[in-house]
Amino acid sequence: MNRLIIYYSQGGTTDLVAKTLAKNLNASLVRIHDLKNREGFKNRLLSSISAIREEKTDIVPAKLDLTNYDTIYFGTPTWAGNPTPAILTIIDRCNLRAKDVVLFATMDSNRGDSNIERLEEKVKIRGARVIETFTITTKNKSPEKLVSDTEAIIEMKDLKMY
Ligand SMILES: Cc1cc2nc3c(=O)[nH]c(=O)nc-3n(C[C@H](O)[C@H](O)[C@H](O)COP(=O)(O)O)c2cc1C
Repeated sequence: MNRLIIYYSQGGTTDLVAKTLAKNLNASLVRIHDLKNREGFKNRLLSSISAIREEKTDIVPAKLDLTNYDTIYFGTPTWAGNPTPAILTIIDRCNLRAKDVVLFATMDSNRGDSNIERLEEKVKIRGARVIETFTITTKNKSPEKLVSDTEAIIEMKDLKMY
């Protein structure tokens, strides 16, 4: 079973969740970088607007070859209840036909479900079969707690199966 985890993380929490998944599931990892400056209060506001409008952004890597993978994970923070521009940009460039897909979203406290719903619509358009989804709240959590919460989800959702 070849698994690939594709994710975007601005502040590092989704990065930690993705790395914990990769370690436990023996998966490969690709972090998508957004070339737009998203630091500071004003840019946070603009980022929320971008997410609501589902705007695309410049990313690195710009494209991915998924030929050698059976199961693809997509992970993203929640921005204004939506997926981030970086993850939507890469999804729109992936051929997901015949791929099993797992979706995960981090969030401070709420609206992760609407994020997942939108991701689900997007990957299905690209041909994916969504086999699992989950959200993780990150607010005020220590890195140790984030790791143990992620490991609990792996067990609960039986992710080693896929
Ligand atoms: C622009 C922006 C919008 C956000 N909107 C939400 C939101 O609607 N709901 C929520 O619970 N958290 C929201 N957050 C918090 C992030 O989703 C949360 O802290 C996430 O775990 C950050 O992941 P990262 O550290 O990998 O970037 C927002 C953060 C940013 C920067």
